Amino acid sequence: MTKTYAVIGDPIDHSLSPAIHNSAYLFLGLDCIYIAYRIPSRELEFGIESLKKIGISGFNVTIPHKVDMMQLLNEADEECILVGATNTVLNNDGNLKGYNTDVDGFLDPIRKRKIDCRDSDVLLIGAGGAARAIVAAFSREKAGKITVTNRTEERAHSLIRFAHKLGLQSDYTDLKNAGEIAGNYKFIVNATSVGLKGVGCPISTRNIKKDAIVYDIVYMPVETPLIEESKNQGATIIYGWEMLLAQAMKSFEIFLKIPAPYEAMKLTLLGRF
Ligand SMILES: NC(=O)c1ccc[n+]([C@@H]2O[C@H](COP(=O)([O-])OP(=O)(O)OC[C@H]3O[C@@H](n4cnc5c(N)ncnc54)[C@H](OP(=O)(O)O)[C@@H]3O)[C@@H](O)[C@H]2O)c1
Repeated sequence: MTKTYAVIGDPIDHSLSPAIHNSAYLFLGLDCIYIAYRIPSRELEFGIESLKKIGISGFNVTIPHKVDMMQLLNEADEECILVGATNTVLNNDGNLKGYNTDVDGFLDPIRKRKIDCRDSDVLLIGAGGAARAIVAAFSREKAGKITVTNRTEERAHSLIRFAHKLGLQSDYTDLKNAGEIAGNYKFIVNATSVGLKGVGCPISTRNIKKDAIVYDIVYMPVETPLIEESKNQGATIIYGWEMLLAQAMKSFEIFLKIPAPYEAMKLTLLGRF
């Protein structure tokens, strides 16, 4: 029987997940299909019941449901509990198990470059859902201090409390000041949506050093203003699409328990930009 998978969220029209997953099924000749399913904020429970009724095999979860979905799971893996959010759910005869592939997805491009995070200081711009997974990722890699900056200060402090809970050193800097101190950090990570559609740079880049690693998780466009400017500073760049692809591959492997076809998924993803 054909297995059906989905991504749920709102908005969902522009999600790249159906294209990435369907290309993997096609490449491997799997009898599977992956759809985008819009579920508005207040209709999550009803939406999940509908997915169970059609016998969904598994689904990805995106904005705004990653945290609320936790309440509807029967089980959750360690990473998912740690982050307090899920982006991948496996349906085993109505038993829903949650996973979080954003943590490994974020770390994958760092590991591919054989970059050691241990004791490295991180300037993290943003304090939303993705930033939380990034703090969990750096805690796993035993990074040094994480300095958080965010437009809304209170959210930054809440993320700093989370980092402390994970045993990380963490402090706050004002967004206006972040560019001034950027030269003190090995990692500079943008986890805000600034740069999306090529509009805006989250911090001033003039102090970024050439031995810094600038990781922008915004993936549309591939070359965000932060990436372009940091390249001019000579920094090492990690692209948002690399994280997107890695987390999708990890979801695929949770769903189907076979290795994900990297090249097919990458070609499809990059072809969409
Ligand atoms: N590459 C990947 O695989 C991947 C994975 C997940 C997310 N993302 C991308 O990462 C971004 C954040 O996602 P999320 O899930 O964390 O979203 P979120 O929970 O809504 O958080 C959004 C973040 O962006 C900040 N922000 C939004 N507009 C801003 C502006 N005009 N100026 C300054 N800061 C602004 C918010 O600051 P406030 O707290 O002040 O609102 C918050 O820190 C999105 O662009 C998303 O597409 C990429």
